[in-house]
Order: sequence, then structure tokens, then C-alpha cells
Amino acid sequence: MAELDWSNLAFKYRKTDKIIVSVYKDGVWSAPVASEDFNFSFSAFAGVFHYANSCFEGLKAFRGVDGKVRLFRPDENAKRMQSSGRHLDMAVPSEEMFIEMCMMCVRENIDYLPPYGYNAAMYLRPVLIGMNPQLGIASSTEVVFAVLGAPVGTYSGAASLSAGTAVLARNYDRAAPNGTGAFKIAANYATSLHPYNMAHRQGYRELLFLDPATHTKIDEFGSSNFLAIKGNTYVTPLSSSVLPSITNKSLQVVAEDFGLKVEKRAVYVDELAEFDEINACGTAVVITPIASIDDKPTLESTEVTRQFVISKNGLAGEMSTKMYNHYRAIQDGLEQDIHGWCYFLD
Ligand SMILES: Cc1ncc(COP(=O)(O)O)c(C=O)c1O
Repeated sequence: MAELDWSNLAFKYRKTDKIIVSVYKDGVWSAPVASEDFNFSFSAFAGVFHYANSCFEGLKAFRGVDGKVRLFRPDENAKRMQSSGRHLDMAVPSEEMFIEMCMMCVRENIDYLPPYGYNAAMYLRPVLIGMNPQLGIASSTEVVFAVLGAPVGTYSGAASLSAGTAVLARNYDRAAPNGTGAFKIAANYATSLHPYNMAHRQGYRELLFLDPATHTKIDEFGSSNFLAIKGNTYVTPLSSSVLPSITNKSLQVVAEDFGLKVEKRAVYVDELAEFDEINACGTAVVITPIASIDDKPTLESTEVTRQFVISKNGLAGEMSTKMYNHYRAIQDGLEQDIHGWCYFLD
């Protein structure tokens, strides 16, 4: 077991022993290997460096209360990576290969898999990178697929479920109408860096993007989906420019199991005032409760024209807390996995 302070891992890069690598060349994927070399060597002309020929995934492996190791819904991440890679017209790994390489990554770095009881996990970062040299704009014909791992705790090191503030992105978009918002491609994240940095400098934890066509509807946060609770209803935006979050998809099922009605529909900014609970949701922390959302003419502006206050005590709402606890309990093996979401490491 690695000597790490398991209770203070936060969400940051930490080196493990190995990464798992396969290369696609001449129409075939090479057999995956566990490599101690964390450096890739590509031509400076590789498509990834110029045209962002690259997509990635994020999922977690947990050591359960029963000592068993569970990967949470890796089949869903495999499908999403296939969808992203195909949008870049690159070769993609099969679902089976994706899952096997994720399993290998956990096995080869098992000393870094946090023990049960620290609200920590091994984060897996599959990456698909176009590597052949090229000059013109073109899809990559040679591709590296690698699965990287890192032990992680809560995102910022903050206690889980502590509420944060958000601001609307009135004059920045993470995606274009009919663009790439629904794919987990690297380019989408480069787009959001500048407005995100600005929001963080202003003390906001989250930046909430609007639909890029009309800026009247909620899309999602920079790296998480938007979900709200209104009475007995779970509300989440239906939008073609939002990344289909696996956490959101799973929480919708948990909500239905709890007897809530799930609504996937347009969510207008004005409706923010009517929600009982609002959360950002994603693999990294499951949910981040949102205490308040500021609306400003521009992100640069110091003038707050409207403030939506959702949580007055800085805590997650009652239903969100219940869903979070249930969700984490499934991942930790404390609650029965009735939907068959967990894949066990043999
Ligand atoms: C833009 C964006 N939205 C939503 C999510 C949440 O997705 P998931 O629940 O699959 O982690 C992520 C993180 O992957 C993201 O980057």
C-alpha cells in the first residue's frame, strides 16, 4: 500500500506505478501494455498538438466495505468515448477493450487504490490521442488509447456536500449550437478555461453555461451537469449541447427509485428562482450543492443584476443528500446494486 494521507487526497495529479497503453496503426490496435514510462513521444506535427484531435473520459474505482473493488459503470464511459472518438473520425476502442484496460490500470496500481472509509477512490482517465504527423486539418489515422489512474478524494479537498456559489456565463459559451457540447473532446475544455479562471478569481466555485443559441436556458456547468429538485420532481436540462453525464443518468434512476418524477426538459433562467435544491453533478464529487447563482450583464462586470439564493445554510438539500448517500453507498458496496452498475475487479 502506498504511503499516502488518504483523508487529504483532493483532486490532483499524483503519480502511480503504471499507465496502460495501446496504439492503433495500420488498422489494428496493439495488445495493451502496462508501462512505467508516463511520457508519450510523438512528432511535433501530431494532430493533437494543432487541431485538438483528442477526447477523454473520467470514471472511478472504489474499494468497498467488503474488500471488493468496484468500477462504476465503465460500460457507459466506453460508449461515450466511442461517441466522442467517432465525432473526431478517429479509431475507437471496443467496449470490451476499454473496460479491460480500465481493469488493468486498477490492477497495476492497486497500491494506490484508497482503502474503504476515506471517501476516496481511484480516478481513471482514459485518453484517445491522434498521434500521426500531419500538416493539413485532418482526422488522425494513428491513435494512442491509454488509461491513466490517480488516487483522489473530494474535488477541492473541501468536505463533500459543502455548497458553493455559481455565476451565469452570459457572454461566454462552452459549445456552439449544433457544435460539440455533447462530446467529451479536449477542445471543449480549452474553450472554458478563460471564463472559468475569471469566475474562480471572483470567488465563484462554478460557472453555469447557457444554451448557446438564445442564452435563455440552462445548459450545464463547465465540468458537470445541472440538476434541480422542485417539490417531488427531479429537473435536468434537455439540450443538444450538454455532455450526457453518467452521474446524472444514474441519479435520475436513484430519484425514480425514491419515487420522484424525472423531467428532462428546457430549463429557463427565470425558473432558477423556483427550485428547492440545485446541484452540479459529475463523477468527481457526485453532487456539489449550489448555494446561490449570480446573474451579471457580463462575467467581467462587477454588477450583480439578480441573485438566486437556493441554500441559505450552505448545505445540500434534503433530497440531494438522500440521493448522494444512496449513490455513494452503492459504489462502496453498502447498498444493494439493484441496477447492476458495478463491475468487479477479479
Ligand atoms: C462538461 C461536463 N459535463 C458533465 C460532466 C459529468 O459527467 P459524468 O457524470 O459522466 O462524470 C463532465 C465530467 O465528465 C463534464 O466534463
